[in-house]
Amino acid sequence: MYDAIKPGPETPSQAAGLPQLSVVVPTFNERDNVTVLYRRLDATLKDVAWEVIFVDDNSPDGTWDVVRHLASQDSRVRCIRRIGRRGLSGACIEGILASSAPYAAVIDADLQHDETQLPKMVGLLQSGEAELVVGSRYIEGYRADGFNKSRAGASAFATEIAQRALKVEIADPMSGFFMIRRDRFEQLAPQLSTQGFKILLDVVATAHGKLRTVEIPYTFGARQHGESKLDSMVALDFLGLVLAKLTHDVISLRFLLFAMVGALGLVVHLTTLFIALEVFGAPFPQAQATGAIVAMTSNFILNNFLTYRDQRLKGFAIVRGLLLFYLVCGVGLLANVGVAFSVYDQEPIWWLAGAAGALMGVVWNYAMSGLFVWRK
Ligand code: GDD
Ligand code: MN
Repeated sequence: MYDAIKPGPETPSQAAGLPQLSVVVPTFNERDNVTVLYRRLDATLKDVAWEVIFVDDNSPDGTWDVVRHLASQDSRVRCIRRIGRRGLSGACIEGILASSAPYAAVIDADLQHDETQLPKMVGLLQSGEAELVVGSRYIEGYRADGFNKSRAGASAFATEIAQRALKVEIADPMSGFFMIRRDRFEQLAPQLSTQGFKILLDVVATAHGKLRTVEIPYTFGARQHGESKLDSMVALDFLGLVLAKLTHDVISLRFLLFAMVGALGLVVHLTTLFIALEVFGAPFPQAQATGAIVAMTSNFILNNFLTYRDQRLKGFAIVRGLLLFYLVCGVGLLANVGVAFSVYDQEPIWWLAGAAGALMGVVWNYAMSGLFVWRK
């Protein structure tokens, strides 16, 4: 079923089991690419002791199984299989943190990045010239063969926003191909977002210019097998990251989405109430209760698809999650009314009391949903 793997001759530090470089490869449905990438790494990394850490989010195509097979042939191959989680940034962070080598690279599995740049990147880190080396598609000498027009336009626009809003100075902060000193990465890691695609942008923005960075051009190739996982939701992740960084992590994308879904829930509630009263002539208490249940249910569905899409509940877990969500929202309503009452008691300003109650409700619902409904 699999081709036999012939590992190259070992260097002394490899024999001692001490990799200098960990190549971290996030994978999702890359079954046909991982062996080719492994062979290319083996061919290009002749003068450096390396290992490769594949971080697979339990790919339905069984990528992890192919990686396990490679690992059984060559101890430089490692496999992290994550179950119940999705996300490129989180996978990269976990992979780098699993490394003990002084340098860590991140490279896509789909052969779109040019792995022959890796030795040069190691050289720049070793000489101390750089702490971070970025494979860049925007500086002189680059060619973006793997880019179609609309994709190139969207990428350029996002780069512009990132450079202006976050004062990021590098030419290609959207790159998914880079190498970093692990010690420097580990200092930044607690502040990095696990959501979204933009790990490099996050690293650079979090470092606030205090990371010596060198960019090197490379050719962004075309995908060989499988398809891109970058969808329109990725744009949302990107905006969320910019927002989080601008507000120093006070407002996370998750909270913002949760609050937006909550606001939409109010519209759903009022619409249902109106229909129940006017169209079906239901008595007010029943109509109000129906509105609340419909709104909570639609909020739950939207949060499951949007806010928590990286931890989406499936199958029977949906029913359990929905019941817990009703419970959380029910208690949230009590908290809402309680806070509103006590504010009104102090200061009888209706809108202030109402807003304080609503804020308490959304913060409560958000915190408790994260703990009980979509817990990791
Ligand atoms: N573990 C894991 N989990 N890996 C993932 C996930 C995920 O949820 N989503 C994608 N990947 C892996 C893919 O298997 C691939 O190896 C790599 O991440 C990049 O995913 P692609 O789907 O091929 O992304 P792309 O080619 O459209 O985007 C690339 O270019 C962008 C710049 O335009 C990536 O390098 C991006 O990081 C980069 O920003
Ligand atoms: Mn790709």
